[in-house]
Amino acid sequence: MLLMNQNSCFSIVWIGVNDRKIEKWESHIPLDFGVTYNSYVILDEKICIIDGVEEGENGDFFRKLEATIGDRQVDYIIINHVEPDHSGSIKSLLKMYPNIKVVGNAKSISILKLLDIDVPDDRAIVVKEKDILDLGKHKLTFYLMPMVHWPESMATYDTTDKILFSNDAFGSFGALDGAIFNDEANLNIFENEMRRYYSNIVGKFGAPVNAVLKKLSSVEISCICPSHGLIWRKYIKEIIERYQKWANMEPTKEGVVIVYGSMYGHTAEMAEVLGRELGNRGIKDVIIYDSSKTDHSYIFSTIWKYKALILGSCAHNNDIYPKMEPLLHKLENYGLKNRYLGIFGNMMWSGGGVKRIKEFADTLTGLEQVGEPIEIKGHVTPAERDRLIELANLMADKLIADRK
Ligand code: FEO
Repeated sequence: MLLMNQNSCFSIVWIGVNDRKIEKWESHIPLDFGVTYNSYVILDEKICIIDGVEEGENGDFFRKLEATIGDRQVDYIIINHVEPDHSGSIKSLLKMYPNIKVVGNAKSISILKLLDIDVPDDRAIVVKEKDILDLGKHKLTFYLMPMVHWPESMATYDTTDKILFSNDAFGSFGALDGAIFNDEANLNIFENEMRRYYSNIVGKFGAPVNAVLKKLSSVEISCICPSHGLIWRKYIKEIIERYQKWANMEPTKEGVVIVYGSMYGHTAEMAEVLGRELGNRGIKDVIIYDSSKTDHSYIFSTIWKYKALILGSCAHNNDIYPKMEPLLHKLENYGLKNRYLGIFGNMMWSGGGVKRIKEFADTLTGLEQVGEPIEIKGHVTPAERDRLIELANLMADKLIADRK
């Protein structure tokens, strides 16, 4: 699949692979639509691969590589990021191409050793910020992007064709079922899967993402080639703006996410009252999750999108409902901000759920609490229904006021 210069001997070719067998990313995030490991080869006076693939997919990867370069030798493999989904081809490349050099920064070469990938000194090229690798026609410049999302992460920029090989940045879950460019694809799946990837994988590192976006703001970019998901050759400005919003944890849409944990249905009943009143007030996007059912990676991604969050829990052994705690912990760990927050819950005899959500609200100072926490005992009485309706109205008022 050619990226650039179709009729030239200086082509850039996508040699990525689709993995539709994988069940869970990092062994915990469900992959409904699979994932790609994108790899690119530049055919120039020198032959250079940018990022490898996960070890189990090397068969497909090497078939594509050999079909592209024939019996030519590979001169360089650039390692923008050492996680095994990209470094899984290095050992085989070192064996197959005796003259290949592994190009990475000082951190990446040292971290590779922890993955049992030993690159001999005479086969490593250690690069620094803005070093240039000359392939002939293509001159590659390296931009370090520490903590997007590992300390050794970097991007490679082709100054000739203005292509940014951004590794995990601008990446997405989802295999490429035909289209590899964003303008060829139906974006319905990718819009959600890209945000789910960003929020769960990169979301904690907003400041480093902002630093990289600032660093690259003066660089002309004709195409963004990430290591997962679609290649962006159109709407570059828009996708960078979207990334900027995500990095700042700014919501991109009006709406309310309600997440609850309920054992006997009373907290769920409270969530229904809140949701119905929000709908009654014209809030079109109200998404209600039962935390015991939906994997947190989806809930997390939806929270990333919307302006308001309402959390509810019953009490469980003087504490919060067990399936709510990991979500709260992750939101605290990532430092969620720029959201309205409502709190509700239920207890029979001990309490603990609402108490924990209040602690969460105190920890995350970037949240604006709306109304008072509502904690009731058992089923919803008419008076308690009115209190919930009042909370929903306060939240709707906030959102409607923001439309102006
Ligand atoms: Fe695609 Fe952080 O590895």
